[in-house]
Amino acid sequence: MKPLIAGNWKMNGSLAANAALVKAMLDGLDGKTPAADMALCVPAPYLAQLQSQLTGSAIAWGAQDVSSHEQGAYTGEVSATMLKDFACRYAIVGHSERRQYHGETDLLVAEKARLALAHGITPIVCVGETLAEREAGQTEVVVKRQLAAVIHAVAHCTSEIVVAYEPVWAIGTGKTASPDQAQQVHAVLRAQLAAATQHPERVHILYGGSMNAANAASLLAQPDIDGGLIGGASLKAADFLQIVASAH
Ligand code: 13P
Repeated sequence: MKPLIAGNWKMNGSLAANAALVKAMLDGLDGKTPAADMALCVPAPYLAQLQSQLTGSAIAWGAQDVSSHEQGAYTGEVSATMLKDFACRYAIVGHSERRQYHGETDLLVAEKARLALAHGITPIVCVGETLAEREAGQTEVVVKRQLAAVIHAVAHCTSEIVVAYEPVWAIGTGKTASPDQAQQVHAVLRAQLAAATQHPERVHILYGGSMNAANAASLLAQPDIDGGLIGGASLKAADFLQIVASAH
């Protein structure tokens, strides 16, 4: 299975900056097949721009969230069918910033994952513990609880999701989980997937949290780390391409 390196731009960008960043990535690839599958998850208003710049290229695109409702009176929400209109391949669900700042629960995240899949969009399901939870020895319990809700909701489609382990204490802090720390949690998640699907090896389990050009290779060398979900470093073409190149 080819690794997957996905960028999460978060709430960054502008038409002009995106055009330059995407062009630099495409120029860097120079028409060659990258060592990893690549995707960029961007703010919803820029999906049309990414679609027009990336169609026919090696880079897929996606959203950073999706509504848990099909349609209707949900001001500010963006539905899965709307994302489909812009040919999104992926939608991040349950990012810790949404769990923290928008009160998203395990159940809501699971419903978002279910709806994305139902509309042919691959959910990138984020799980991860806070520093307090890690220090209290709760890491395993927390990530398993978060993933269990999604497995319960998507049932026989479990092998079609992407999982991203993002320890909250490593996001945007410059503190990366060590390869061993990350591998330990990824193995737990793989075992949980194995109990739910016949093909746990088909599920990409990405690591996210201060992954960068310097530390990517050692993380990606771990047996259960199948790629990365990259925040800050996905805003720099050279860094992002370096991470992609370090995947095997
Ligand atoms: P950073 O790579 O900026 O730490 O962000 C990680 C992340 O949250 C990706 O979703």
